[in-house]
Amino acid sequence: MSDWQKTNWRNKPRVQMPDYTDQDALQSVEAQLSKYPPLVFAGEARRLKAQLGAAGRGEAFLLQGGDCAESFEQFSADGIRDTFKVMLQMAMVLTYGAKVPVVKVGRMAGQFAKPRSAPTETVNGVELPSYRGDIINDLPFTAEARIPDPKKMLQAYTQAAATLNLLRAFSTGGYADVHQVHSWTLGFTESEKAEAYREMANRITDTLDFMKAAGVTTETAHTLQSVEFYTSHEGLLLEYEEALTRLDSTSGKWLAGSGHMIWIGDRTRQPDGAHVEFCSGVLNPIGLKCGPTTTAEDLKVLMKKLNPANEEGKLTLIARFGAGKAAEHLPRLVKAVKEEGAKVTWVCDPMHGNTIKSATGYKTRPFDSVLREVRDFFGVHQSEGTVPGGVHFEMTGQDVTECTGGVRDVTEEDLSDRYHTACDPRLNASQSLELAFLVAEELSQLRSPNEDRAAI
Ligand code: PEP
Ligand code: CO
Repeated sequence: MSDWQKTNWRNKPRVQMPDYTDQDALQSVEAQLSKYPPLVFAGEARRLKAQLGAAGRGEAFLLQGGDCAESFEQFSADGIRDTFKVMLQMAMVLTYGAKVPVVKVGRMAGQFAKPRSAPTETVNGVELPSYRGDIINDLPFTAEARIPDPKKMLQAYTQAAATLNLLRAFSTGGYADVHQVHSWTLGFTESEKAEAYREMANRITDTLDFMKAAGVTTETAHTLQSVEFYTSHEGLLLEYEEALTRLDSTSGKWLAGSGHMIWIGDRTRQPDGAHVEFCSGVLNPIGLKCGPTTTAEDLKVLMKKLNPANEEGKLTLIARFGAGKAAEHLPRLVKAVKEEGAKVTWVCDPMHGNTIKSATGYKTRPFDSVLREVRDFFGVHQSEGTVPGGVHFEMTGQDVTECTGGVRDVTEEDLSDRYHTACDPRLNASQSLELAFLVAEELSQLRSPNEDRAAI
């Protein structure tokens, strides 16, 4: 789109963005960020786009995951390492089930801004603006903490840069060696409670042993010890996104330099709104959340705006309906895609339609609802003859108690033990890996439906 400008979104209606009171401070932050280096390069975004295109054709599978909201206070090397580690374990199990490469994309290094269901929050009769993520304001319930502060964008940039630096080091520095990753997984399946997953883990062991015997080792095949890992976040705070947008000299196109992939949330996908306008002009792969209120008509308009050249891998549709609701909503959207002949990659986010309040007052998600929505999603694609291209989870490598269920059975009473999320409840390391085993089993069934179900 030749007339696209990175500032055009400013002429469109915007929702879910803060009203900064100090305009001078805002402009000074924007000027500073505009001079900083981009966090990612155009060639990487193009490579991810090609891999997402493969996922759309069923020749790869996307695993996208990480925090609901990254936090300044909880920022640590261990936190990044643990999430990276469990994603590698999940990817390996999913690769085994799907028999195609798994594209790994973190909700990391930029996932700071949050849309909220209400602009204010009332506690004990006191009403204050809602918390909107650490890039905008602060979580504590005080009037001062809730004032949007543009300087927080600079801290977000610094944290994103440091996160990405560590992820790049882990990806290529030996940490991601397949044998090491698998040994962590065996640690999980050794526990009595995870017995159901032992058979698949043993089959992976056999495969690795066979490869070793055949001479495919980390010494002979360097791909066994490094991985490609990409970053993504919701492109919500457009001042931040605009300031990090750069012209790619190779293609003459604009790159959102804040992350490899950005997505549009369920609350900001108005076809004529600011977020769609911004995302329509950057070369990065774009995600679009599709919820119960997404109409076929809107989706058709959005697909034309966000992927005018109908490129494979450009647009990922992230379905988030809730367990038991995919069958009601997904078919009309799948049909709209077919009618348009649009190239998209379908992904399931089984988190955002399954948030409930526990009897103890915590926002939580039952493991079984998460699994059920993934199964519903696969079922609809199977009946429509379309491709389920991946999964999108809110998860962490830490042993938190935010979602209920799983083999280690987190109960509603346990939620208060280690409930650390700054926003929505995340699957913990054990729940994430367990889910990967269950999804892998579904994927292997899809590939060869006539084979007996394995022990799981
Ligand atoms: C999210 O991904 O954290 C989110 C807010 O999702 P959605 O826009 O789908 O509600
Ligand atoms: Co969330």
